[in-house]
Amino acid sequence: MQELDLFEDELIAQYRRHPVLANIALLPDEDFAAILLQRRFLSLAFTPAYDLAIDLLRDEEGLRIARVILREEYPGGDGDRRSHREDMTADMYRLGVSREALVHTRPTPATKRVIDATFDLIADAGTHEDSDLRVLSILRFWGEILVSVEYGRLWERMEPVLTQDGSRFYYLHHLHDAKGEALATADLLATGHADRLATRVARFLGDGGEGAADSFREVERRSLQIKVDFYDQFLPALERVGI
Ligand SMILES: [Fe+2]
Repeated sequence: MQELDLFEDELIAQYRRHPVLANIALLPDEDFAAILLQRRFLSLAFTPAYDLAIDLLRDEEGLRIARVILREEYPGGDGDRRSHREDMTADMYRLGVSREALVHTRPTPATKRVIDATFDLIADAGTHEDSDLRVLSILRFWGEILVSVEYGRLWERMEPVLTQDGSRFYYLHHLHDAKGEALATADLLATGHADRLATRVARFLGDGGEGAADSFREVERRSLQIKVDFYDQFLPALERVGI
């Protein structure tokens, strides 16, 4: 399992080095806003993707972990608290995105393809013999770890404006979704989402031999590719500033 951890850490490092994320501080304000506005559509698709995953899971413990994570997106049963997506919009406004821009922005073809590819990835995982391992690995890597990496990068630019105490969404998700533990050592008392999911992923990897390791690597590679495809659409913005 150590080998898979190293494999995963290498993918994480690769994502962190994506030119758009690595140079996020150098982009003009309007390009940074455009990224946040497009990224919002991926966040809006996050909960339906989770629901699809839940539809496909058969592992009772994995299901319970996924249901809890999904419900945490909607705190408060009385309608007096914002959902995480509303928190995101609030952070975006504080970063200077206008309501006008939010209202008028539509997903680009590239963003739409990324959303489609995400649903495809999860749906395809459900068709395999080892669907529980695949679906849980996707939720952990696509839905938590890579999000944490991404928001960690975006945070470099947001921090002076939002501050750690002032951010409702980006900073908290950067912290909360991170890979805190290696696969083999994560336990259910972990508070982070990635590490809670890791308990079941590690269990299936332990039982599944080389076939399971191959499935894990395949879905993690595909998860990363989807994330990279999203940011590749902003490479021209970097070229415009000469990077
Ligand atoms: Fe999370």
